[in-house]
Amino acid sequence: NTYRIAVIAGDGIGKEVMPEGLRALRAAADAYGFEVDAVEFDYASADYYLEHGQMLPDGWFEELRRFDAIFFGAVGWPDVVPDHVSLWGSLLQFRRHFDQYVNLRPVRLLPGITSPLAGRKPGDVDFYVVRENTEGEYSSVGGRMFEGTDRETVIQDTVMTRTGVDRILKYAFDLAQKREKKHLTSATKSNGISITMPYWDERVEAMAGRYDDVRVDKFHIDILCANFVLHPDWFDVVVASNLFGDILSDLGPACTGTIGVAPSGNINPDRTFPSLFEPVHGSAPDIAGKGIANPVGQIWSASMMLDHLGETEAAAGILGAIESVLATGGDALTRDLGGTGTTASLGGTIASVIAGA
Ligand code: NAI
Ligand code: MG
Repeated sequence: NTYRIAVIAGDGIGKEVMPEGLRALRAAADAYGFEVDAVEFDYASADYYLEHGQMLPDGWFEELRRFDAIFFGAVGWPDVVPDHVSLWGSLLQFRRHFDQYVNLRPVRLLPGITSPLAGRKPGDVDFYVVRENTEGEYSSVGGRMFEGTDRETVIQDTVMTRTGVDRILKYAFDLAQKREKKHLTSATKSNGISITMPYWDERVEAMAGRYDDVRVDKFHIDILCANFVLHPDWFDVVVASNLFGDILSDLGPACTGTIGVAPSGNINPDRTFPSLFEPVHGSAPDIAGKGIANPVGQIWSASMMLDHLGETEAAAGILGAIESVLATGGDALTRDLGGTGTTASLGGTIASVIAGA
């Protein structure tokens, strides 16, 4: 099998961790017997913006849609382009036009990393946040009235469609069904948000009827946030609307230590367009150019991408290599993990473990 991968490194440490993501991908290809045809693009970056006055070329959609997946680094360089321009002009275009309606984030405490939650060990924290990525609270329906007067009023509506809600729930239930605990938690707020959230609950109940073997519960978003911190072992698959999922999908990885290791997938499960895999972190201008960024988030994203492409053994191989290198610890680790290693040395160590698999 040959997979065509569009590679977009972006800005800052995106350009430093991407080579390590590709190194892991190529090591996995050799070890597990498939081919990677990686094509690199320089757009979705501040440099491209400076030269062209826009983040993407006009033909990006036709160009990228032909790939099996998009492997993404990080975009944003606030000194040159305001963040809303760089993000809206690139990543958010990909998510919307390629209908990547699932934002998937594993929340997993890895060996060798100290959780900020006292006393938590690997195994205590191992779940997924499934965020709706295209509708919900992030709509552009609404407006301003009586601007500049005492009656100034702003309104922004939440949009939930049956198609949009059911497809994210189906993805989450399918994922829960494949996991050992078969447990799904829904994030709601139907006590306070009296129209959309009761509808969400209703659709969860309807979907639950089709998955007899999945245990289902729900929490209001406020207590759910508290329980992420107090009882991370309660969760297996957590499904949430766009806004609640956005909050949970930063809180979750924060419970597992450094942001530098967290991966994510922007997934189109129907495969009508390519899905996009990227580390959770941004371009980190404060450490860019020093060669010290942690490459694990990018490498783990490669594992998620291979899983999506059906190379499940290779995906597990990459994750296993990450875990064994982190567990060994010591100087190989980057500074954010307490070591003295560089982006390239940690990436190289992980790649050699993948190759030896
Ligand atoms: P950030 O994630 O880039 O950095 C936050 C903090 O975490 C910094 O102190 C940074 O040094 C540290 N950090 C991040 N990744 C690390 C790694 N791999 N290894 C070690 N330390 C790491 O978030 P920030 O500073 O809020 O945003 C910087 C730029 O990145 C902005 O332009 C922002 O818009 C963009 N951004 C892009 C994202 C994306 O491409 N998906 C996501 C988040 C931010
Ligand atoms: Mg966020």
